[in-house]
Amino acid sequence: MSDTQIPTCRWGIVTTGLISSWFVADLMMPRTDAKASHIIQAIGSSTLQKSQDFAAKFLKDHPDQKPALYSSYQDVYNDPNVDCVYIGSPHGFHKQHCLEAISAGKNVLCEKAFTINAAEARELVAAARAKGTYLAEAMWLRHRPMVTDLRKLLYEENVIGNVFRTTSDFQMYVDVANLPPTSRYKNPSLGAGSMLDIGVYSLTWAILTLEPEAPGPREKPKIMAAQSFVDGIEVTTSLLLHYPDTGRQGVVTSTTERRRDESQIIATIDGTDGFIEVEGRVPSHPTSFTVYPKWGSDDKKPQGKKYDYSRPQQGFIYEADNTALDLAAGRKESTIMPLSETVRVMEIMDEVRRQGGTVYPVDQA
Ligand SMILES: NC(=O)c1ccc[n+]([C@@H]2O[C@H](COP(=O)([O-])OP(=O)(O)OC[C@H]3O[C@@H](n4cnc5c(N)ncnc54)[C@H](OP(=O)(O)O)[C@@H]3O)[C@@H](O)[C@H]2O)c1
Repeated sequence: MSDTQIPTCRWGIVTTGLISSWFVADLMMPRTDAKASHIIQAIGSSTLQKSQDFAAKFLKDHPDQKPALYSSYQDVYNDPNVDCVYIGSPHGFHKQHCLEAISAGKNVLCEKAFTINAAEARELVAAARAKGTYLAEAMWLRHRPMVTDLRKLLYEENVIGNVFRTTSDFQMYVDVANLPPTSRYKNPSLGAGSMLDIGVYSLTWAILTLEPEAPGPREKPKIMAAQSFVDGIEVTTSLLLHYPDTGRQGVVTSTTERRRDESQIIATIDGTDGFIEVEGRVPSHPTSFTVYPKWGSDDKKPQGKKYDYSRPQQGFIYEADNTALDLAAGRKESTIMPLSETVRVMEIMDEVRRQGGTVYPVDQA
């Protein structure tokens, strides 16, 4: 590859569910500032018909894309033309599907929640290291340019002084009581519950805005958590992160019991000299943020400065580009979401579940 060329990644898409469709649709959208190019090399599903339907629907405007269509996931892992497998199965299957891909020698980008618990995550890290394959969690939020800019404003330019608190809430209505037991929102074996599914994003906002250091070994926050249940499935989680050294607090919540507004404030960061509101549809999908000066005794909200990051893409393109760049550079994990950080987040969520009372079948294995 010459300096003027951008790397190409040939993706093997595993499953034809919702997230795989979002990922593929984003990769196919035209853009002028690409850091990498992407080819949908293979699609694997539980049936050939589903792979065919998926390609017909999401690649119909892209005749240059001619993926191999498979009736199993294993065929994707075995395809020598696939550079990286994207795993979009329910989180209860992530360990199995990642292990199968790694054992076939494939690089892997796996959806969040990376696994059900930290023990499973550590097992995957060990397997990838033993095999020498790339492994990363598809935590797309961390890859957004907005996050880099926001962290620079917070910790290099100190635009709101000393950060002392972040709040973030993820709401997404799911009618758990009326879902079939096979649904990934209802089946504990598949990882049902708001914390792993959506709370991980509120938690990520707290981590990204309360911890100035780049990902790596660091102080673990203290955690206080509570969880509530419908039909034995966790539907609401509230947790407090407390960093003893700085006194910073993260107030992190998620619920599948409340329908969200179309556009709302998805995180608020409070500092001694001002505050920042992050706007968007949900915490995984921020579109802008506004920096406000300190709100004094005045009743009127102060004038803020808005930073807008709206784009036609949903934003999966950033993690896809960075994965392609990692692979081209021969890296075995992401610098933005290193495996140690994935394991640390899983450990935090293990502790939340320990306090809150969510137990999954694999926890007892
Ligand atoms: N990054 C994000 O913002 C985001 C958003 C949504 C979901 N996710 C993550 O992506 C993963 C998948 O979520 P999703 O909403 O895409 O799920 P989904 O629409 O239900 O799709 C999951 C796919 O997994 C396959 N699968 C295999 N065994 C299954 C089983 N027993 N039950 C259900 N599906 C099974 C199916 O694909 P085939 O029929 O093709 O085999 C199914 O279409 C989850 O881990 C979730 O947390 C991430």
